Amino acid sequence: MRKPFIAGNWKMYKTTAEAKAFARAFTKLYNSSDVQTAICAPYTQLETLIEAFKGTDIKIGAQNMHFAEEGAFTGEISAKMLKEIGVDYCIIGHSERRQYFGETDETVNLKLRKAFSADIIPILCVGESLEERDGGKAFDVVKNQLASGLKEITKEQASSLVIAYEPVWAIGTGRNATPEQADEMCGFIRDTIEELYDDVVSDQTIIQYGGSVKPANATDIMNMPEIDGALVGGASLIPEDFIEIVNF
Ligand code: 13P
Repeated sequence: MRKPFIAGNWKMYKTTAEAKAFARAFTKLYNSSDVQTAICAPYTQLETLIEAFKGTDIKIGAQNMHFAEEGAFTGEISAKMLKEIGVDYCIIGHSERRQYFGETDETVNLKLRKAFSADIIPILCVGESLEERDGGKAFDVVKNQLASGLKEITKEQASSLVIAYEPVWAIGTGRNATPEQADEMCGFIRDTIEELYDDVVSDQTIIQYGGSVKPANATDIMNMPEIDGALVGGASLIPEDFIEIVNF
């Protein structure tokens, strides 16, 4: 049985003072439940949040990492550095990184390999642009992203993978995919994982939907059979909104 997994992606929002205020407010609202909750925060807030949520079952994730063990890569952060401070998850291949920072399927693949070897659970983001959806290419695009992103990832590694389906046209636009559209693609992702591995792995894979998830639509999205969770941007910045989504 797959445990629902709701993760916040704070993107480049919140100072340390703001993160502490969020943690204080969210802790008051939060009761541990059957839902796995995580917050993927900017690097400078990771330790603050790990400390603030100590003793709860809320996990902390990063939003990116480098694929090398270490080296002369100015401005980068390694998986080992994240692991050392207690980070459990890392978003890999978010569309904003693909779009603005030159992330490719190849670098996504290298990062996935490194994350697994450092015992960090990757949240692999896939999703098509509006042009690709309108051109009838959404399924091909997502299938390619999965096949190239997961190259040489073993069955054992893949069984702890989290995948987030985030159609680019639904991110930060207020225009979310319908629950049916999201469910259809999440089902397709599960079928693709079965093709790449087997049905044991595909049964275990947590597949999230991301793109304008809000308290008002979280229940409908989470009730879909193929959707196991949500990757929440804007609404994860507000404790009262994020708790409503966690308690869908
Ligand atoms: P929004 O929820 O703000 O649309 O962002 C989605 C997202 O990109 C999560 O990774």
